[in-house]
Amino acid sequence: MLMYKHDLVYLTEEASHDAAIELINEEAFGPGRHTRAAARIREQGPHDLSLSFICADDGETIASVRMTPVLAGTVRGHLLGPLAVRPSHKNRGIGRELVRIAVEAARRKGSEAVILVGDPPYYCPLGFEKVAYGALIFPGPVDPGRVLVVPIAEDTHARLKGKIAWRR
Ligand SMILES: CC(C)(COP(=O)(O)OP(=O)(O)OC[C@H]1O[C@@H](n2cnc3c(N)ncnc32)[C@H](O)[C@@H]1OP(=O)(O)O)[C@@H](O)C(=O)NCCC(=O)NCCS
Repeated sequence: MLMYKHDLVYLTEEASHDAAIELINEEAFGPGRHTRAAARIREQGPHDLSLSFICADDGETIASVRMTPVLAGTVRGHLLGPLAVRPSHKNRGIGRELVRIAVEAARRKGSEAVILVGDPPYYCPLGFEKVAYGALIFPGPVDPGRVLVVPIAEDTHARLKGKIAWRR
């Protein structure tokens, strides 16, 4: 008998994934996660399910990436995060693949940029670039060296100046 021990599939997020995603984020970031500056933006309005993705292993949700529509300066883009992979499934390229899928989906939907607060060594090989220090004002303190963007519109960097907030 042939058995696949790991049958990974990537799916667009649906409401039914909510509870599993909550647990994954709780496990990855702990109870302090709601106070981070990026989390405050996400509290301003819902994320975009059509640009958010999960990875399931044999039907169990084991990783998630979410995307929230934001206005950053004059850029109509998306904030990527949280991104989390269950510890049992780390270092298999799942995080990278979720980022790739989310950025590609945003591009197709006409987003002008994908923005996040994260580690440059992880995200820069995936197409992210540093935003000019202090150019974006978050609703809370952020480390300016960790504000990154995949510029999609040509003049993105020049227009990433001012507040970043949830948008409709
Ligand atoms: C960070 C995270 C999403 C990576 O997911 P993953 O599926 O394990 O990552 P991938 O398999 O795609 O990539 C693994 C590679 O990234 C590297 N990596 C992981 N976290 C990194 C970081 N913070 N900085 C630099 N490199 C990192 C690993 O060392 C590994 O390197 P290798 O390919 O040379 O072995 C996952 O570890 C996680 O959920 N962590 C806790 C939550 C978190 O920190 N999320 C990111 C918020 S910015």
